[in-house]
Amino acid sequence: MTTALELDVVTAGYGDNPIVREFSARLEAGTITTLLGGNGAGKSTLLRAIYGTNRLFSGRILFKGEAIERLPPWERLRRGVGFVPQGRCNFPAMSVGENLKMGCYTLPSSKHEAAIGRMTDLFPLLREKWRTEAGNMSGGEQQILEMAMVLLLEPSLLLLDEPSLGLSPRMQGDVFATVQRIAATGVTVLIVEQNVRGALLISDRALVMEQGRRFMEGPADEVRTDPRIRQAYLGGNIKETAA
Ligand SMILES: Nc1ncnc2c1ncn2[C@@H]1O[C@H](COP(=O)(O)OP(=O)(O)OP(=O)(O)O)[C@@H](O)[C@H]1O
Ligand SMILES: [Mg+2]
Repeated sequence: MTTALELDVVTAGYGDNPIVREFSARLEAGTITTLLGGNGAGKSTLLRAIYGTNRLFSGRILFKGEAIERLPPWERLRRGVGFVPQGRCNFPAMSVGENLKMGCYTLPSSKHEAAIGRMTDLFPLLREKWRTEAGNMSGGEQQILEMAMVLLLEPSLLLLDEPSLGLSPRMQGDVFATVQRIAATGVTVLIVEQNVRGALLISDRALVMEQGRRFMEGPADEVRTDPRIRQAYLGGNIKETAA
């Protein structure tokens, strides 16, 4: 197993406020990890710290064995860290097609067509909505566009913040299936999800955060069946259903 990402006693937050505290974790290449925690626990803050868009107070972040904690976000992106933030559409006044073309800007032009083709194959919705103004799509559809914009650049680590929020159950299933397919190509995924059950079912590992600190870590199956986790995140006594 190769370690893709290592968080070494990371403390991160905003201004003078550390939110994530002394958080350590290791993600093996090609695995999917769910990051669980209550509202305000610091999940989004941790993803931002890995991408480099908030303040790192202390600790180290190793990506493919190299320290990246001092690099600006665009340099982390260039090295293969892809971040899809929670529900935001970058260019709402542009069509879906124009958005995807914009997303290719760091790729050599000879690769644009193939990259966009991969995304419209992965998400046929984007082909159907090619001429639609991105801002006029539903929140969930915009979320899929944002994911495609990041995937265009073929990241080897994908940080996903609530990718299924606002999606119909069927589209949530599509997103989870897509994440699995992406991971099967060797991409490492760290996912924060409001659909905890769905996320755990596709995950290899789970990390649980409470008030910014690591509370639990282990195989997703074990975390899913832990009584404390069932109580806090899975509505207590719910019957398990197979994936
Ligand atoms: N830009 C910001 N500036 C200052 N404080 C922030 C900022 N973003 C988040 N916080 C604070 O950091 C804490 C953790 O927020 P964060 O968004 O990381 O939680 P979360 O676990 O992602 O929660 P949720 O499940 O609601 O998305 C909260 O107390 C929040 O108020
Ligand atoms: Mg959040």
